[in-house]
Amino acid sequence: MKATAIAHPNVALIKYWGRKDEKLRLPTNGSISINLSEMTTTTTVEFSENYKSDHIQIDKQNLFDEADRVIKHLDQIRTIVNSALKAKVVSENNFPSSTGLSSSSSGFAALTVAATTALGLKLSEKQLSVLARLGSGSACRSIPDGWGEWNDADTSEGSYAHSIFPKDHWDIADVVAVVSSEKKDISTSKGQKLAQTSPFFEARQASMNHKLNTLKIIITNKNFQKFGEFVEAEALNMHAVMITSSPSLIYWSVGTIQLMKQIKKWRAEGMPAYFTINTGQDIHILIEQKNVKKLICKLQELMYVKKIIQNTVSSGTFTSKSHLF
Ligand code: PMV
Repeated sequence: MKATAIAHPNVALIKYWGRKDEKLRLPTNGSISINLSEMTTTTTVEFSENYKSDHIQIDKQNLFDEADRVIKHLDQIRTIVNSALKAKVVSENNFPSSTGLSSSSSGFAALTVAATTALGLKLSEKQLSVLARLGSGSACRSIPDGWGEWNDADTSEGSYAHSIFPKDHWDIADVVAVVSSEKKDISTSKGQKLAQTSPFFEARQASMNHKLNTLKIIITNKNFQKFGEFVEAEALNMHAVMITSSPSLIYWSVGTIQLMKQIKKWRAEGMPAYFTINTGQDIHILIEQKNVKKLICKLQELMYVKKIIQNTVSSGTFTSKSHLF
């Protein structure tokens, strides 16, 4: 009863910030994302009578806070098949976690697929996405391939992500610039609860349906300038809600601000590149494939950029025969 799954984190182009149901992790609006090809979480889960308790190892460490959340998720999955078997879970990220690169999206997507497969459950993509969402909202978008949309819904069964364009729909790169390895001080889960305290939250919500439709048209027509301007403005809109919530959430570091300004400067000099940022200091730079090399050379000259990860749009979560133990 052992299975391994590999998932890619996703980056939202239209973000999910705020929930209408905390327990079910139902978002207050729909969102759109892409899966990131060079970043992975690999997770092996084994259920066995030999285990007297659940053993959780993430990135070679036994992390107790996060273990709690993993065990809760295992419990939800065990309930489906009425199993009391304990599990060993080993999970490895090939990228920094808790710095804004959405390791919880790939983490809970991989955990969901590995654990359900290990228990012999045969679930549809939609059911896996619903289940992954209960672990971490954005994880539902790492299940389907390519460009994903997570619908706004009022029920748990209705709240899942599906693919709206295949991974090779458009030659877009997402170049991640890690500006610091410092872990964020307020987790995304805690931060989400504060969204509605911002005076700007209602205004943001009122615009979301229109934004979802507009972005889908832009992606269909592959207009990169409109795409970049839209995605960057959306990220800043979400951060405006974060910064003005009570207490305020400022996830940026000095390096984040330096790089945002630098990207705008490069744009003014003729290189079309745009940024998006999640809950953390690291930056995603969206750029057409033909300009990636130029961007990487420029990033390499910046002392404050510690690591660069060059992604294309990738597949969803899949199983693997190479187990971690
Ligand atoms: O899924 P969570 O609870 O980790 O929240 C994700 C929040 C953002 O990354 C900021 C936005 C998003 O839609 O991914």
